This record gives sequence, C-alpha cells and structure tokens, in this order.
Amino acid sequence: MANVCIGINEFRSKSTRIEFAEKDRLRHLYMIGKTGVGKSTVFQNLCLQDIRNRHGVCFIDPHGDSIDWILERIPRERLMDVVLFDPSDVEFPFALNLLEARDEFEKDFLVNECIQIFYKLFDPGRTGIIGPQFEHWLRNAALTVMAGPEGGSLLEIPKLFVDSAFEKKKRSHLTDPLVIDFWTKQMAKTSSFHKSEMLNYFMSKFGPFINNAMMRNILGQRANSFDLDALMDDRKILLINLSKGKIGEINAHLLGLILISQLQAAVLKRANRSNTERTPFYLYVDEFQNFTTDTFASLLSESRKYGLGMHLANQYLEQLPDHIRGSVFGNVGTLLSFEVGAEDAKVLAREFAPMTERDFINLPRFNFYIKLMIDGKTSNAFSGVTISPEPVLADGSMSSEKVKTFNRLAYGRPRLMVEEAIQRDL
Ligand SMILES: Nc1ncnc2c1ncn2[C@@H]1O[C@H](COP(=O)(O)OP(=O)(O)O)[C@@H](O)[C@H]1O
Ligand SMILES: [Mg+2]
Repeated sequence: MANVCIGINEFRSKSTRIEFAEKDRLRHLYMIGKTGVGKSTVFQNLCLQDIRNRHGVCFIDPHGDSIDWILERIPRERLMDVVLFDPSDVEFPFALNLLEARDEFEKDFLVNECIQIFYKLFDPGRTGIIGPQFEHWLRNAALTVMAGPEGGSLLEIPKLFVDSAFEKKKRSHLTDPLVIDFWTKQMAKTSSFHKSEMLNYFMSKFGPFINNAMMRNILGQRANSFDLDALMDDRKILLINLSKGKIGEINAHLLGLILISQLQAAVLKRANRSNTERTPFYLYVDEFQNFTTDTFASLLSESRKYGLGMHLANQYLEQLPDHIRGSVFGNVGTLLSFEVGAEDAKVLAREFAPMTERDFINLPRFNFYIKLMIDGKTSNAFSGVTISPEPVLADGSMSSEKVKTFNRLAYGRPRLMVEEAIQRDL
C-alpha cells in the first residue's frame, strides 16, 4: 500500500518526506489556514497521488480551480474513471435527487438529512425560522413523495399540497401508518387557511430552486446520474465543481449538502461489510463547513469502520459550529495548520504544543505545522513545507476536453429531454 506525501520536513539541513499511511488516513485530516497559504495545493497534490495509486476519490471544490488543475494532470489510463459533475454545464444536466433511496435505511436517513439541510440553509442559528411544525410537514411530505415504484424528487414536495390528483396517487402507495395518519387525521382537520400558509412557506424555500432552470433540471430528475456505492467500490474519480461564482452561492451549498448526504448514506452502509470488502475511498472537501449538516460529526467519530478517509479544510475556526469544531479536534487523527489569525493562533497553540501563538501568526506561506497520525498515534507537532504544484501534462488540456465530452454522454442527459420529463412531473 503506497503512502502519500503531504510535504517536506526540513530539520538541521536534512529533508524528509512527510508520509501519510493508508491506515492512518482513515482517521482523517483537517487543515486550516488563511487564503493564499497553499491549502488547496495540498489537497490537489494528495488527490493526484491517490489517482495515480488507483484509489477512488471524491473532490468537492467550491472554486473550481482545483478540479481544473486535477483534470489537466490525470494520467491517461485513468481518464475513463472520471465522473465530472459540473452543474454549470446546463446543456447536459446531471441528476441529483436527495430523495432517491434504495432501501428503508436510506429512506429514513435521507429524510432526516432533508430536514437538516433546510435548517442549514434557512435557519443555521436555529432561531425558530424552521421549527418543529415545518419539520413535521416536511418529513411527511418527503416520505409521501418517495412512495411508489417511481419515487419522487425534492421539487415535487410543494405539488403535494396543491394538486389533489397527485396527492391521491402518492397516498395510494403509502404503507407507513404514521404517514397515513398525517394525511387522514391531521391534514383532513387542517383548515385551508393554514394549509395555504404552509404552502407559501414551502414555496418560499423551494421556489428559488424550482424557478432556476439550472437547479430545476438537476434536482427535478428522479433517478440519480451516478450510484455512489458502485462509484466507491469501482474506485472512480468523482470531481464536483461547485464554483460559487458560476452557479451562485446558495445553489452551490444545496448541491454540496445533497452530495455529502448521499455519500454519507452510502458510507454508513459500509459498516456492515468486512474490512477486506471495503475499498478505501478518499474524500476532499474545501470549505467543508458549507456542505455538512449536524450528522457529519458522527461520521468523524466513527470513521474506521467505513473505510473513508476524509480531508477537510477551512479558513478560520469561527466558521465551524461548536459541535463540529469539537468533533474535529476530538476525532481527527491528523491536524495541519498554515498561517492563521490571532484568535485561532491561541486555540492552535494549545493543540500543537510546544508551538506558540506567534509561531502560527508568523508562518510564511506554503509552511505549516502538523500533528501527523503514525500507526494510529498522533505525533508531536513538527513543521513542513508543501510540495509545489507540478506542471501540466503535455496533452493536459485535451484530456480535460475528453473527460467533459465523455461525461456529458455517460452521466448527463440532453437538456430538452430533461425539461420535457420534468414538465410532466412538476
Ligand atoms: N509549495 C508551493 N510552491 C510554489 N507555489 C505554491 C506552493 N503551494 C501553493 N502554491 C501556489 O500559491 C497559490 C496559492 O495556493 P492555494 O493552494 O490556492 O492556497 P489556498 O488554497 O490556501 O488559498 C497558488 O497559485 C499555488 O499554485
Ligand atoms: Mg484554496
């Protein structure tokens, strides 16, 4: 099993490669640092080594630059393994349906995630904007939309409350007594005033995605473009371009949240398999706080049994909700810090003793401190320098184009076909 190289340690004029072993990587890596210090480059370098070592990877990129960088360096023999999800390619939309579930476990998990995602997007401080009432309606509506052999998409939820033929058809497939009761007992007694109030509320949340052609075409399809279980088992290279500048911030957040939720559902099921059946899979998420819900903390704490090695990065600690921050420092095996601001330097100096606050504030760019997991134990802090980005392959830009064309055909669908199907369903 090949180790990957994170950077170089220079000590008394001796250079040593900082190697990260497979087993230790399944305990994850967390990286922090101001912008421009070299964070994305570390992820790109690691990911490229994984690709060369024939591992399966997923890279979630909120800027798009890292994906372009990787695409221009992918060895030819791995080109066909790339699954490139670029929502801004509106002519061949991929399908990403949060509510596509293949078994009861996924159904429960994804409906809970759906609720978490709404909190995350619309009420991150839990100030009551969402609340238990909306949660209850959303849960029952989602379960109803998912019922029946054809399943349903997130965007069909508001339709349940306006189209009584659709409501009837969906209800005829229900088997869960609690969801049946929701319709027969509760909704039957709900005044039309209250119903329309709730519908307005649903529309204020779903409307922006239904009315945006790019999002509607991605979220409104029922069957997902790719199957994450198979993708992990087949060691594919999943590149997700969530460039905020191109697709808009809220859209990027929602798509990232859905992807991570689907990935979690797939990963959690791997716990039932034996070690040898679990192909390691590596996940890279830059600015990860935007794409993770509360359930993510438990993924961090019970990592080994899933065969998932996560690499998470962000710029400063205040961006992380308290319990995620706690989970990062409590559970992540390898911590890496570049230059940070004064507030974070205080916290990091405590974690990285004997380093001091000043050490973190004065770090030159591309230099970092690391506490590396080695054989299941986290080392004392030491310093390192990152590896400079390697040059583009001679035919790099051509392979990017090849990957894009191949992906449109293999995973996307022509826009007109998608729009026709969605018009029927929505
Ligand atoms: N070790 C290095 N040597 C030379 N240039 C580097 C090195 N690491 C990163 N860079 C360059 O520095 C710039 C900022 O790096 P980047 O990884 O994007 O930082 P961040 O993600 O922290 O904002 C990029 O142009 C990158 O190519
Ligand atoms: Mg970056």
